[in-house]
Amino acid sequence: MAEKKIKTIGVLTSGGDAPGMNAAIRAVVRHGLARGMNVYGIKRGYTGLMEEDIKEMKASDVSDTIEKGGTVLGTARCKEMRTPEGIARAVEVCHKYGIEGLVVIGGDGSYRGAEKLANEGINVVGVPGTIDLDIACTEYTIGFDTAVNTAMEAIDKVRDTSSSHERCSIIEVMGRNAGYIALWCGIANGAEDVLLPERYDYDEQKLIDNIIDNRRRGKTHHIIINAEGVGHSGSMARRIEAATGMETRATILGYMQRGGSPTCKDRVYASTMGCLAVDLLAAGKTKRVVSYCKGEFCDFDINEALAMKKDIDNYQIEICGSLSHNYYKSEAALKDEEL
Ligand code: F6P
Repeated sequence: MAEKKIKTIGVLTSGGDAPGMNAAIRAVVRHGLARGMNVYGIKRGYTGLMEEDIKEMKASDVSDTIEKGGTVLGTARCKEMRTPEGIARAVEVCHKYGIEGLVVIGGDGSYRGAEKLANEGINVVGVPGTIDLDIACTEYTIGFDTAVNTAMEAIDKVRDTSSSHERCSIIEVMGRNAGYIALWCGIANGAEDVLLPERYDYDEQKLIDNIIDNRRRGKTHHIIINAEGVGHSGSMARRIEAATGMETRATILGYMQRGGSPTCKDRVYASTMGCLAVDLLAAGKTKRVVSYCKGEFCDFDINEALAMKKDIDNYQIEICGSLSHNYYKSEAALKDEEL
């Protein structure tokens, strides 16, 4: 029997926005149209779906969007998608508009909503969109590259003034549950300490000892990159200043990391993933998520993807420390210090 061709698809962005989401939307719209599909843009994530905030998209609707940050469709975190009534309403609207296939661009939470829709017979494909890089089945998520570059540039600037004033700076980067931005910046910015939600042991004395030790060895600044999930940067700065005598300031980078024009990598990878999502729907696949693993774009079953676990790379943690603290001191250096 010939496979039933999907005629109409929808696309939405859900959860926290991420630079590059527009490239993915654009790809879904244009690749879908090129394959002869009708494409609906759904505003404000699942909330907009339930409220029928839906627009049929033409190719020109996504002109001049690839270079823009944020998401032109808007996004939301939708609590109703956790309820049977919410799911029933979302399915009802899909049927009303003839939406047979749905591309959901977002993180794990958005995938969970997509999986529920798939259980009700809507074909769904997830595309990983989050600056946190915390989706287990993929080594790339839309927005991480831009966000980590934004954070890196900001930290460079804080470091300049920190050195001039011989201060310690605690710089808080995003990542409520994941330390990827913090760790990558730790390596890229040469931070003296990095605090990751996955690993931090709340031993502040260790930080204090490092600062005192580095001061003794003539370092004029001390950069601590703190992930949002550890938090409390302001009070930590006050305690560290009191214990070390080194002036200490906290800087919270916040939402600036989620905005801005996407990098080339985010534009290209997001475009590829958007097209792949359409190709999967066109091939009659459902309950899939698009991923990037070992140098290739690929896809997984959504349940399999949600069951996967991801942990921060221990080797990267190790080199982050060794490159800034001189953990691996030569015998000669150790002898010098003893003198
Ligand atoms: O997009 C991911 C993220 O930035 C997390 O790092 C952060 O914890 C969260 O979103 C905060 O987003 P919001 O304040 O929009 O809920």
